[in-house]
Amino acid sequence: MYTLIMNKPIGIFDSGLGGLTILRGLEKAMPSENFIYFGDTAHVPYGSKSPQTVTNYSLQIAKFLEKQNIKFLVVACNTASALALDTLVKNIKVPVFGVIEAGCCAAVHKTKNKKIAVIGTHGTVKSSAYKKLLNVIDKNIKVAQIACPLFVPVIEEGWHKTKAAEIIARAYLDTVKKSGADTLILGCTHYPIMKPLIKKIMGSVHLIDSAEEIAKQVKKVLQSKNILKKTGASNTVFYVSDDAESFEQKAAQILGRKTGKVNLKKL
Ligand code: DGL
Repeated sequence: MYTLIMNKPIGIFDSGLGGLTILRGLEKAMPSENFIYFGDTAHVPYGSKSPQTVTNYSLQIAKFLEKQNIKFLVVACNTASALALDTLVKNIKVPVFGVIEAGCCAAVHKTKNKKIAVIGTHGTVKSSAYKKLLNVIDKNIKVAQIACPLFVPVIEEGWHKTKAAEIIARAYLDTVKKSGADTLILGCTHYPIMKPLIKKIMGSVHLIDSAEEIAKQVKKVLQSKNILKKTGASNTVFYVSDDAESFEQKAAQILGRKTGKVNLKKL
């Protein structure tokens, strides 16, 4: 049966729970849109894996979402955006949107002392995707990049409000403080889940959580292509590659609502 393009869902994926921070922003900005979310819970974390492995998983997910008849794909994962975006754009027929540019633009806009710090996974930091783009926008900006590999497992385990999380966060963020940056990009979609703790430690430093900016940009692109669904009820369907039950519980806490049945799709 033929489906009107604007009624088709927006595909969105991450290694696990992190992309929910982006989904939250998208749902708020476009309350009538339909979404399909894929969390690759069998392979989280992406941050410590090779570019080839992350690209391979990302491509499999994108192909699966394409088969679900999506109209647009949001790569709600910085690691996959840094390592796999070009491959996805070449191999997927619908427009593909990565999450790195929005954070860079917001940070450049915010910084006064032209010192920006980026925290992210090993994969994102090694790729220097943020540093390169920030310096394309303004070559005088000093960029400090700090990998925080323990944050994702802490968040996936639901430990982000514990004393252990605070000890780990203080150790990583001490390096950020020493950089003198007045602006800190949360360069992993998982990190906004522990934003209250990061805020407490970083004090007056501006935190860039790009979810809101990304939602604005995605909405603009959909509007420009005349494929934004503006009215009617919305629907979000969830898929994970492992342990749907545990995802369902944790996702409900992050989204502040029930997800409905989470489907299992092995890659
Ligand atoms: N949330 C993802 C990111 O933005 C992936 C984290 C991971 O799986 O290591 O980078």
